[in-house]
Amino acid sequence: MNSQEIIDLEDKHGAHNYHPLPVVLNKGEGVYVWDVEGKKYFDFLSAYSAVNQGHGHPRIVKALIDQAQTLSLTSRAFHNDVLGKYEQFVTNFFGFDKVLPMNTGAEAVETAIKLCRKWAYEVKAIPENKARIIVCENNFHGRTTTVISFSNDEDARKNFGPFTEGFDKIPYNDLDALEAALEGDNIAGFLVEPIQGEAGVYVPSEGYLKKAAELCKAKNVLFIADEVQTGIARTGRILCVDHEDVKPDVLILGKAISGGVYPVSAVFADNHIMEVIKPGQHGSTFGGNPVACAVAMAALEVVTDEKLEENAEKLGKIFRAEMQKIVDNSDLFVKVRGKGLLNAVIINDSPESHTAWNFCIKLRDNGLLAKPTHGNIIRFAPPLVMTEVQLMECVAIIAKTVAEF
Ligand SMILES: Cc1ncc(COP(=O)(O)O)c(C=O)c1O
Repeated sequence: MNSQEIIDLEDKHGAHNYHPLPVVLNKGEGVYVWDVEGKKYFDFLSAYSAVNQGHGHPRIVKALIDQAQTLSLTSRAFHNDVLGKYEQFVTNFFGFDKVLPMNTGAEAVETAIKLCRKWAYEVKAIPENKARIIVCENNFHGRTTTVISFSNDEDARKNFGPFTEGFDKIPYNDLDALEAALEGDNIAGFLVEPIQGEAGVYVPSEGYLKKAAELCKAKNVLFIADEVQTGIARTGRILCVDHEDVKPDVLILGKAISGGVYPVSAVFADNHIMEVIKPGQHGSTFGGNPVACAVAMAALEVVTDEKLEENAEKLGKIFRAEMQKIVDNSDLFVKVRGKGLLNAVIINDSPESHTAWNFCIKLRDNGLLAKPTHGNIIRFAPPLVMTEVQLMECVAIIAKTVAEF
């Protein structure tokens, strides 16, 4: 089947809950993907920062195959011989007492919310059903009913109510608003993305995360970092909060913790928080399964051994400098922003326009795959295994496409 026939098949038999760029991929290796007609592209999205280690990394794929051939799933009804090793490995890696393994990012966010509420009632002694969690405007934490309850994206919310209560929304990157919200009654936690990825790669002011964590600590409120998109070397540090030496009370990871090879997510906390969860109170059939554990250990070893955070930091600076030249010399790009290899350019048109989409189609034609986030913002997030030579090839493709556009 050619690309159009495959797209038509999806269109006919699949729910229309996504609007993909029209390109049909059937192979990936490192920073490259190929379409069914054999055309090669640079992947400049990395499955929304899940494929940080590059497509088909041999060490991660080997871990997947070896473990799948040995033991794939026991559920948590029985122990398996990989989970404990993984839990030891990953808690050492991120510096927490305990981990609660789940599968998807949204599930991990749900887990963090439940953990925060339970801690609030049982440790902080907030009256039952009164706990409140502060969240930020324009957040993206996933698609479950509770998570969309505190979204302000109308597409994500409309006609999905009634919604879950208990969330107070404040502007992002606004410490005064946080300080005021923390004065409210029964505040249990502050849930925040260290950079708002989906919203368009909004990087908060330097010092925001550190000060926010301090404000929370002073009020005995849990600082909950959703690093599903920003974590695992993407922004030039293993975690984005590492830029400001912040240790969250609760850390949420997903996506690249498995290198995009398998759905793996995790919530981390120290004992005084995590130990409020007792048997039967939370879980998932697949959470902590042997394949997930083996894959995640291999994926994290790749990050360390290949120094991906250093590469992201170095290439990110080069990339933003190159994009700034385009901003300075063309009318199409208004601004570039980001950290490490999580970046975005703002296109000179209204958020309702199709310019960013049309530009991504031209990028595709020129051999580079990226996608608008919201309206006129294009996120650029290649795999972190990219070399400087490859990055400069990508810069040349983007510059050429701007010149032609
Ligand atoms: C910050 C953040 N949290 C949560 C999620 C949800 O992850 P998933 O799509 O795996 O449920 C995402 C996905 O993009 C995200 O960027």
